[in-house]
Amino acid sequence: MCGIAGIVSVRNISDRLLRSIKNLEYRGYDSCGVAILTKDRIEIRKEVGTVEEVDRKEKLAEPQGFLGISHTRWATHGKVTQINSHPHLSCDGTIAVVHNGIISNYRALKDELIQIGHRFVSETDTEVISHLIEEYYQVEGDIEKSLIKAFQLLEGTYAFALISTREPDKIFCARRESPLVLGVGSDSMFVGSDINAFVEFTKDIVILEDGEYAIITANSYSIKDGSTGSQIQRKVQTINWSAEVAQKGGYPHFMLKEIHEQPDVVKTVLNLDTRDIQKLAEMIHESERTYLVGVGTTYYVALAGQYYFSKIVGCYLPAVSSDEFEYVAEVNPNTLFLCASQSGETYDTLKALRYAKKKGSKTAAIVNVIGSSVAREVNHAIMQSSGPEICVLSTKAALAQIVILLRTALELARLKGHISEQTFSEYMKQLELLPQMIRQILDEKTGNIRNIAYRRAQIKNWLFLGRGIYMAVAMEAALKMKEVTYQHAEGMPGGFMKHGTIALIDDDTYTLVLVPPREEDDLYHQTMSNVEEIKARKGFIVGFHHGKSDSIFDEEVVLPDAPPLIAPLLQLVVGQLFAYFSAVALKRNVDKPRSLAKSVTVA
Ligand code: F6R
Repeated sequence: MCGIAGIVSVRNISDRLLRSIKNLEYRGYDSCGVAILTKDRIEIRKEVGTVEEVDRKEKLAEPQGFLGISHTRWATHGKVTQINSHPHLSCDGTIAVVHNGIISNYRALKDELIQIGHRFVSETDTEVISHLIEEYYQVEGDIEKSLIKAFQLLEGTYAFALISTREPDKIFCARRESPLVLGVGSDSMFVGSDINAFVEFTKDIVILEDGEYAIITANSYSIKDGSTGSQIQRKVQTINWSAEVAQKGGYPHFMLKEIHEQPDVVKTVLNLDTRDIQKLAEMIHESERTYLVGVGTTYYVALAGQYYFSKIVGCYLPAVSSDEFEYVAEVNPNTLFLCASQSGETYDTLKALRYAKKKGSKTAAIVNVIGSSVAREVNHAIMQSSGPEICVLSTKAALAQIVILLRTALELARLKGHISEQTFSEYMKQLELLPQMIRQILDEKTGNIRNIAYRRAQIKNWLFLGRGIYMAVAMEAALKMKEVTYQHAEGMPGGFMKHGTIALIDDDTYTLVLVPPREEDDLYHQTMSNVEEIKARKGFIVGFHHGKSDSIFDEEVVLPDAPPLIAPLLQLVVGQLFAYFSAVALKRNVDKPRSLAKSVTVA
């Protein structure tokens, strides 16, 4: 996730453009830059650092002009360097582009463009946009026509804004699944990845939909369909958000905002370069043993991954908590250490990684922060590109990591010939349903989940049960509950309960049971037998389950039928919402719960 802003006006825009990226900094903060059209040339100022640091050095608002674009970066392709920061220019310097998201086919496009003489200076996927449009402009002689052609060719989830000396009174922008919104002022027009880019200047907005592009001048905006170029009429809406609410995208907390970002985060993960996933699958294939490693939530990510590998590939990849790794793992040059880490700086995970390296193990990681210690120290890092996670609790980053492990399991199963090409594509199709199914749950089930959470928020002790991969989800849901509500929740395998914990069950105990879809015959019946056991002892049960309502539960969240591959991930989202609303009911400090830090860098 990066922040894009653009302003075109009848008066100087430099100060406002700088304000825009300051207000977008929460979307990315490793580097930033501006491109301002001054007289007949584009002046670029960009550097590594926070907006404040870069401004101190580069004087971002010094170039004067009526039109410009700016960017805060959360690196995905290419290291955090001055060259890789945005904006990016075409060879002749007449086109500048800022971009958010991922161009998934950029490598092939870059190779073609290089072959016909384009000179690339950065390692980014963004730079293909400026060169591609420059290339088309030579034939079309028109930026809009060139943009349409490029837009049709660029794959992935992305949004970009572009200026050109050839048409010096316009900003062009386009979106494919990454957000983009226009702001309408009295003598200025704005574009931003979200309204924070311009909420200080106007509260009149127009939202761009997927596959659309827009052209703005100082006093007009026009929205068009990216495939046909036909005009789309869309009215201005007026919002009344404060700057603080705007930062949270209109949500009361970053946690809820980040939960709602998950459909997009999953789409991004589904668009990550297949070759990176295949490389990871090959590394697993070539190793005698692969350990899946993480701590806290990322341990549960690893645990979920363990079940996917076993179910899809028939391979046992043990999940180990980073802090216990040294005490239990047998590591040698034939092993692969594969960890997940949102921050890439977690002490326990780094310590385990360094231990594995010392023993000669190969190493790989799924990381959200480019340039972080974990990302730098492993042999192969997959950047998950989920954007900054501001809430201390991990939600979207964890889901993205599980989906990456799931994609890796599918690639490995294909590589080993464990599944046919046809089964592989059927699984991929199921996976592609995930973003829309999460969206459906967020839209249709939030009220239901909130009501249960509000009614039961005072419960001080929970038992969260699940079997198979639902055990990993139950444990993660219990961790979310503990850290954000400060109430106790114990996640446990369903089958484990009757070996001791069942002694707790009476009419004053509360259990949450994660029930798989009926299609998972054995798992479903085994889980329901736990439900019966609890009922027989008059325990109170909340059920997350699929299909139709079941009166055995005292409270229930009935989810739509879903393929077994993705059903647990839907329940993960329900668990996040349940913890969130319980914390809201208890008036907890949701985004910064007591005693917790976003990145635990100490022993
Ligand atoms: C829980 C949570 C923590 C982290 C853990 C690892 O919501 O966020 O349990 O998952 O501290 O952190 P990273 O992923 O940064 O290595």
